[in-house]
Amino acid sequence: MSSGGRYRHLFTPLRLGPVTVANRIVFSAHLTNYATDGLPTEQHAAYYAARAAGGAGLIITEEHSTHPTDWPYEKLIHGFHPEVVDGYRRITDAVHTHGVPILAQINHNGGQASSMYSRLPVWAPSPVPDPLFREVPKAVEGHEIAEIVAGYATVAAHCTAGGFDGIELQCSHSSIVRGFLSPVTNRRTDHYGGSLANRTRLLLEILDAVRDTIGAERALGVRICGDELIEGGTGIEDAVAVARMVEATGQVDYINTSIGVATATLYMIEASMQVPPGYALFIPSAIRAAVDLPVVGVGRFKDPLQADRALADGVCDLVGVVRGQIADPDFVAKARSGHATDIRTCLSCNQECVGRMGLNRWLGCIENPLAGLESVHVPPPRRRRKVVVVGGGPGGLQAAVTAAERGHSVVLFERHDRLGGQAHVAASVPSRAEFFDIARNLIVAAKRLGISLRTGVEATAAVIGAESPDAVVVATGAKPARPWWAGDDDRVVDVRDVLEGRVHPQGRVVIVDELGFHQATSTAELLADRGCKVEIVTNGMVVGQDLGITLDLEIWNVKAYDLGITQSVDLVPMGVSRAHEDEHGDPAGDGDGPDLVLQLQHHPTGTDQERRCHWVVCSVHQQPEDDLWRALDGAPFEVHRIGDCLAPRRAHAAVIEGNRVAVSL
Ligand SMILES: Cc1cc2nc3c(=O)[nH]c(=O)nc-3n(C[C@H](O)[C@H](O)[C@H](O)COP(=O)(O)O)c2cc1C
Ligand code: SF4
Repeated sequence: MSSGGRYRHLFTPLRLGPVTVANRIVFSAHLTNYATDGLPTEQHAAYYAARAAGGAGLIITEEHSTHPTDWPYEKLIHGFHPEVVDGYRRITDAVHTHGVPILAQINHNGGQASSMYSRLPVWAPSPVPDPLFREVPKAVEGHEIAEIVAGYATVAAHCTAGGFDGIELQCSHSSIVRGFLSPVTNRRTDHYGGSLANRTRLLLEILDAVRDTIGAERALGVRICGDELIEGGTGIEDAVAVARMVEATGQVDYINTSIGVATATLYMIEASMQVPPGYALFIPSAIRAAVDLPVVGVGRFKDPLQADRALADGVCDLVGVVRGQIADPDFVAKARSGHATDIRTCLSCNQECVGRMGLNRWLGCIENPLAGLESVHVPPPRRRRKVVVVGGGPGGLQAAVTAAERGHSVVLFERHDRLGGQAHVAASVPSRAEFFDIARNLIVAAKRLGISLRTGVEATAAVIGAESPDAVVVATGAKPARPWWAGDDDRVVDVRDVLEGRVHPQGRVVIVDELGFHQATSTAELLADRGCKVEIVTNGMVVGQDLGITLDLEIWNVKAYDLGITQSVDLVPMGVSRAHEDEHGDPAGDGDGPDLVLQLQHHPTGTDQERRCHWVVCSVHQQPEDDLWRALDGAPFEVHRIGDCLAPRRAHAAVIEGNRVAVSL
């Protein structure tokens, strides 16, 4: 079906002051860590151009710092430096080639920063330390406020010289302007503090200065936080009042929205799959009801139909789709051409986008192996080859899809009746069901490309040989490994045994978490939901340590508390045995109490502990499933090995390697 029938609103143009957008999908601002030495790079240009080529209606770049006191993370664009203009020009030229307007987001992060990179005190309205950076900022004086305003104007001038179609002021989740707007961080008693009108003064001064600089022929937008989600912070009434003040200036062309504070409630700004879609719609909805300016709604829009619905319902005038277009740069083009089912739907997993930002790495995507590499030349395919892929998990599927896209003839064998591999395991807990899209998206692509998908077939060396392949990609995954301390008791099992339904633990369960990721917490959630009394023990400092980088940790802790799951840290498992008597002194195994004993050592003190339970579930490192790889040693064709059967890791590694090997064929 063409887009016309399905989407009544998405593909209608809209004027944002002097700028007209062809459709309502915005690639809203987000950090990329692609900058080098504070300057924009070729990678920026290629990255944004790919989304413009994919049909985005409007692109808003990541923030550009407006002042040397603002350097919260290493790879930030220093917009105040005149040398940025050449890089700006490369970005805007690349995007304009596709007829898409591009705005620059400019910002000073205020107290939501540290002095680590700048070696200068951070500036804020008042000396209130940020909960993440934990540094007491310098309260800005009158002349410094003037310097901040001038900094915004300077950067706006650089953006104008660099060819941007306008500016967005980030006043929302991480900004000195938000700092002034919020009574939590603004304790001033001068005319920048106290009443909301006073707290909005800096925003209005910046707005004036920037409009003066960019003139009437460029667009100016303001991004506002609709609810800080912190005690005593601003809420939707304040946001609506600020939006009204902003509109009253007559200087602004649109309002963008956001939710939360980046250094306190980030898990709601870049919400993971555990937060229901539509969670932030109340913000654009309330602001749109109060002002005539076009309003952007953002937050977990994953599907064009969902975006069209928000427009139809009058929630917003434009829809921000950030991670959706990181995962699939052609999100808009596919919707427009009636191929929405081909969209590589974002999982809201945060593993490679948000997660890598937190680790100071460049932005990538678990599903899109080219995200972050848009500027890297991909060699053209050589001659058409016959390729056999063994294993239908994300890595094997990616290898098959990339190989088929490059013109090779591909057969994929999967020993199970269904494709997807461990994506099924990861998605087996209801709150993580969206993770299965990693496989579903690839299965759709594989079918579209005509790949021969042979499920329920054990691909032995003989079966593969019968295909006379030129190249074989072994993607047979990993298998649970029994840790040294686990013994052979059949009530010591692996998380996969539970999640794949081979065992059904009951009663008191201890989960040993050595991975620090979703495996243990998902299993705990599932078992607690089934009525088990669950404890997780970990050798780490926090259960589910890496959930911190995917922004799932806060949600997990609330859930664990609600489900009565207990968590114990710094504990190393030392062995499991059967108890001769239970903790009441009765004979073990009489149904009166747990009869397994898990021995633990508290590693900081070297002291011993034990846990009595009915089951022990291990969330531990897996072993490569590499029998086929070994069996193919000396085969008369090229053999490659990727993903977990090479070295068990997380899904992104399998996808990247699947793509990489297919490009090399
Ligand atoms: C990696 C990443 C970095 C972000 N950095 C910024 C930023 O610099 N400025 C901003 O206003 N929003 C930033 N955001 C928030 C996004 O604009 C958007 O509000 C959020 O991702 C929710 O939209 P989505 O569900 O479509 O991804 C960032 C989001 C992500 C995923
Ligand atoms: S890494 Fe996950 S959340 Fe981020 S864009 Fe890719 S699929 Fe979406």
